[in-house]
Amino acid sequence: MTMTRTHTATDGATGIRIGELTPFIGAEVTGATFEDLRDPALWEQLTTLLHERELVVVRSLDITPEQQIDLAGRLGRPVPFLMAKYRHPDHEEIMISSNAKKNNLAIGVARVGNFWHQDSSYQRSAPPYTMLHGIDVPGTSGHTLYANAADVYDRLPKEWKLKVEGRTAVHTVAKRQRISPEHAGLSIAEFKALVEEQHPPVEHPLIKTDPTTGRRYVYGAPEYMERVIGFDANENEEFFALLDRLIQDPARVYEHRWTPRDLVIWKCELTYHAATAVEPGVDRTVHRVSIGAREPWAA
Ligand SMILES: [Fe+2]
Repeated sequence: MTMTRTHTATDGATGIRIGELTPFIGAEVTGATFEDLRDPALWEQLTTLLHERELVVVRSLDITPEQQIDLAGRLGRPVPFLMAKYRHPDHEEIMISSNAKKNNLAIGVARVGNFWHQDSSYQRSAPPYTMLHGIDVPGTSGHTLYANAADVYDRLPKEWKLKVEGRTAVHTVAKRQRISPEHAGLSIAEFKALVEEQHPPVEHPLIKTDPTTGRRYVYGAPEYMERVIGFDANENEEFFALLDRLIQDPARVYEHRWTPRDLVIWKCELTYHAATAVEPGVDRTVHRVSIGAREPWAA
């Protein structure tokens, strides 16, 4: 089945093309404008693709920060980034992911997500979606890699499917917590204790079922997991190595090579992803909006 077809916008504008990115993850929309996306029929089509394909790329979408927030608000509740200094100066919902400097000061957070992970899995309840807009993106480096967590589950060897059944895993940010100026003077033990206090480890089911597709998926990336409960140290090590191999299998990874103004949206739990390095001397800036569920999570 091919999903490529021409969408006729209500205003009779030029054709919008929609197609698969790869057989295992992603859909791509080209030729759409912000006005086109305001068409409820097209927006519904996009959200259906997001729910079924885990990742949607809208190529070359020329939108303002306000318009990005507007689109994000149609999926859920944009959540302001924790660290106020990396928020967009006029829009707290946007986090600036950038290696660029202005007057010798960083304008955003550099090296965001440069390892394989599922967004915020170390939180008790991760926001369901992430949306990036490419503001200043080099075409030659700084790509983003994506793998589908349901596809990873499908590729688990049978004996591992049995071993992981019904288990939970401990997620933590500890392996990837950054040391920043506020930590100056702390001993390693004090730093670790502070991280534990600010981000206590949380437990999640290791295998979950996607409510839209009904597919089972692995929830947990080795970089954000401490251990699987009930596995001994060897089993744990073996499982994490297996997961790394399955996630990073080049035949099952989509590499997003950014073109200017791309809008990329994904489901946080279903999408493993990693940012690749930006070549030295090149600036790269992306606007990120984290999209929470409409109702705040309640205990
Ligand atoms: Fe991420």
